Order: sequence, then structure tokens, then C-alpha cells
Amino acid sequence: MTAPVEINVGLMGLGSVGGGVAAALLDRSETLSNKIGLPIGLKKILVRDPGKTRDPAIPSGLLTTNPEDILDDDDIHVVVEVIGGTDPAASYLKRALSAGKHVVTANKEVMAQSGPELFRLAEQNRVNLLFEASVAGGIPIVGCLMNELLANDVFSIRGIINGTTNYILTRMAHQGAEFQQALKEAQDKGYAESDPTNDVEGIDAVYKLSILASLAFHHRVAPQDIYRQGISTLEANDFRYANELGYAIKSLAIASLENGSIQARVYPALIPLDHMLAKVDGVYNAVEVEGSLCGKVLFHGMGAGREPTTSAVVGDLIEIARRIGVQGPPSPMVQNGRPLSIRSIDELETRYYLRLTVADRPGVLAQISKILGDGGISLASVIQKDSDPAQQTAELVITTHPAREASMQRSLQQVAGLEVVTRISNLLRIEGQLDPS
Ligand code: NAP
Ligand code: HSE
Repeated sequence: MTAPVEINVGLMGLGSVGGGVAAALLDRSETLSNKIGLPIGLKKILVRDPGKTRDPAIPSGLLTTNPEDILDDDDIHVVVEVIGGTDPAASYLKRALSAGKHVVTANKEVMAQSGPELFRLAEQNRVNLLFEASVAGGIPIVGCLMNELLANDVFSIRGIINGTTNYILTRMAHQGAEFQQALKEAQDKGYAESDPTNDVEGIDAVYKLSILASLAFHHRVAPQDIYRQGISTLEANDFRYANELGYAIKSLAIASLENGSIQARVYPALIPLDHMLAKVDGVYNAVEVEGSLCGKVLFHGMGAGREPTTSAVVGDLIEIARRIGVQGPPSPMVQNGRPLSIRSIDELETRYYLRLTVADRPGVLAQISKILGDGGISLASVIQKDSDPAQQTAELVITTHPAREASMQRSLQQVAGLEVVTRISNLLRIEGQLDPS
């Protein structure tokens, strides 16, 4: 592609994020052009329903429902994909790269599943592929892992990387909101994925952790390599008991590299109330990267929403527009020859919080602690809560000393099989080994 005298953008998607990107390109094109050094303009916008009322209002003639209007237009230099999902977004991205167009995407699902293939296509066609908005909204974590932190061997990444779940957990913990009500609010604010199951079941965070871990460790960490537990089983009692024990409950994403082996997991965990991650509330995300040279670096900011995500998408767009005509850097997310392996969640050693409903009669705790003891699991505390005299049941909240995940799961199955146990409400990990703030 010869260096253009102006940059034309084809935008695919005009929802929460696309609306912000369109507004930036339509209302602030002069400011953006000044930052780039070349005029930049929005040439076409792909939508599903051209009849929808749009905010911002879009000039007639810009909207299309035909992807070829963007993919086959030689005058469009950069494609911005903010449709979401795998299909048809992934095929549009492949076609755009194959047609020699630079690409900016906010699509964590496609980047997590097909990142290496897309990078190969970008390299073959000598175009750029940037995806800052795919992880943690307005926080510039992807660019830092790909550039500023490259000098480091990264040991670990841990943080809160889904705005919707953090918004829900904050509303449930502090305002006693119901799960469904808090989720509806997150959807209304434009934070949630089109299928919010991806948020609440940890799938979105798994995609994001797959991207971050692959970039950090220079080794492919696929979504299926990551252990996942969502937040949908959490109940008001869990927040109450955790608070009494001195903990907050947060959905954490953690990837660490130890002795040549990577372990990655997404789950709701108890963290000490005075830990910095316990204070990350609402739609805010935070990511801590620990590297060999930089030590611990903390990123904090809004992890979802129109404006923060537009900041990331348009930042990538400016970066690409500045680079056009210059060959891009080598592909990230590729293996660098280190013989790393992926470690199963079974090998995790951590403390646990277990909440269960049991028959309220003598000897019950002895049966449970025998099973846990036989599994090598030592109890740290036991609290009996909310006896239900009518049902003759009681709620037990047990915390343990560090134990192996595989032993815990085996023992839990045996505990669940006891005639005196009526319900296992929740098993959560206590990330007590996180350093205090
Ligand atoms: P959204 O509000 O659901 O918008 C999706 C847009 O894509 C809509 O304009 C829709 O058209 C269009 N679209 C969907 N399927 C299409 C198809 N088959 N052909 C043509 N157009 C299609 O989604 P969003 O929240 O903006 O998210 C977009 C992407 O950004 C996702 O990958 C998401 O994970 C990522 N992201 C979102 C956020 C956030 O806070 N929302 C933050 C970071 C990253 P119509 O308008 O005509 O229906
Ligand atoms: N649904 C995502 C979230 C959007 O809530 O974090 C940002 O990637």
C-alpha cells in the first residue's frame, strides 16, 4: 500500500463502543488529524439495523449493512471492528487483514481464540493489528505489555479485569443489591457483553487473561488453559460472612509463571479488606504486573463503558495512522522458544472458604472435619450461622489453612455425600498470599 495523503476509516459496529468511536471521528477529526499529521475521516459504518435511532446521530450515507462496502473499498486504510462475538467478526478481521487493511479491534473473544492466526495474517500482509480495548477498557495494559515492559521477565499478572462483575459485586457488597438488579444496571450502563453470561460466568475475563498472559509470558495461553468459576452462585450471606471474617469478595484473574510452568485462573476469591484490590470498586479494573526489573506495577482505571473504551480504540487508531507506511514491529503472542508448560488448577495450593448447610445435631462437624483431615486439609476457623429450628439445619462457614485444590475437590465431594449435609453453598479461594496494600 502506498502512503496515503489522508486516512480513511471503516467502522464495523455502532453500539456502546462504536458510538463513542464514531463521535470522536466525526466531532474531533481536526484534533485527531493534528495528532496524526494527516487528515483522518470516517468513510463507512457497518451496522445490522440501519433504521435504529443512534446516539450520536450519524449523517445519512455513512451507514451500510453490507460488509463489502468496507472490506472491498481500496480507499479504506483502517478497519475498526467493534461488533463483538466470533461470527462474523473473526471472518471480517481476516478479510480486512488479507486485503492489506490495518485493523483495530476491541474483540477479546476473537483475539484470545485466533490472535496468533490474525498476527500471521497481519505480518504476511505487512499491516498492523492493535487491540488495546480488548482488555480492561481504558487502561493501557496491552500496549505496556507489548512495549514498555518488554525488558522484563514477567512473573505474574493479577487483577480485576471485568467491569460488569466488579460493578455487580460492589453493588451486592455495599448496597445489598440483588444480583439480577445489579446486572441490569451494568447492562443499562453499556458495560456488559451482548450475552452477559460471558461476564458473570468469567468467560470474558478468561479471554482477557488469555491475551494478557500470552503477551506477558510470550507463550500461548489459550482460553481452555485457564480455570474458570463465575460469580452467579454468590449470595448475600457470602458477602456478610466474608466481611465478618475481614475479607472482600472480588472476581480475580491470576496468571503466574513458576519453575517453567504457567498457572492461570479466574474465580471469585476472598481478599483481605485492607488489600488494594479490595478497594477497587464499581466498573473500575486494576491489574498488577510483577516483572524482573520493574517489580510490581499497578494499573487502575475504568474497565468498561463507552468513553474509556473509545480512549483505547482511538489511541490505537492514532498509533496505526502514525505508523502507516512504516513496517510494524514483530508479532507478539508467539512462542519465544522457552520450554514452558501449563499447570492444572488441581495443583493450586491456597486457603479456602466453604459455606454449607448441615443438620443441626451433635457430631456433624466431626464428620466433616474427619473427611477434610483425611484429605490433608487443616481447618483455620469454623463459624455456625443462622440455625433454622424448623428445618433443624444450620449454616457452617469454614476457612482452611493452605491445601491442594485436588484434595479440596475430592474432600468436598465426600462432604456433599454425607447424609447430614443438605447443601454446599459455595467454595471460594482465599487469596491471602496477596501482599497487603
Ligand atoms: P454492542 O453495544 O452490542 O454493539 C454491537 C454493534 O455491532 C451494534 O452497532 C450492532 O449493530 C453491530 N453488529 C452486531 N452484529 C452485527 C453483524 N452481524 N453485522 C453488522 N453489524 C453488527 O457492543 P459493544 O458493547 O459496543 O461491544 C463491542 C465490542 O467491544 C465487543 O467485542 C466487546 O467485547 C468490546 N468491548 C466492549 C466494552 C464495553 O464497555 N461495552 C469495553 C471493551 C471492549 P446494530 O446497532 O445495528 O444492532
Ligand atoms: N463486558 C466487559 C466488562 C466490557 O464488563 O468488563 C469490557 O471489556
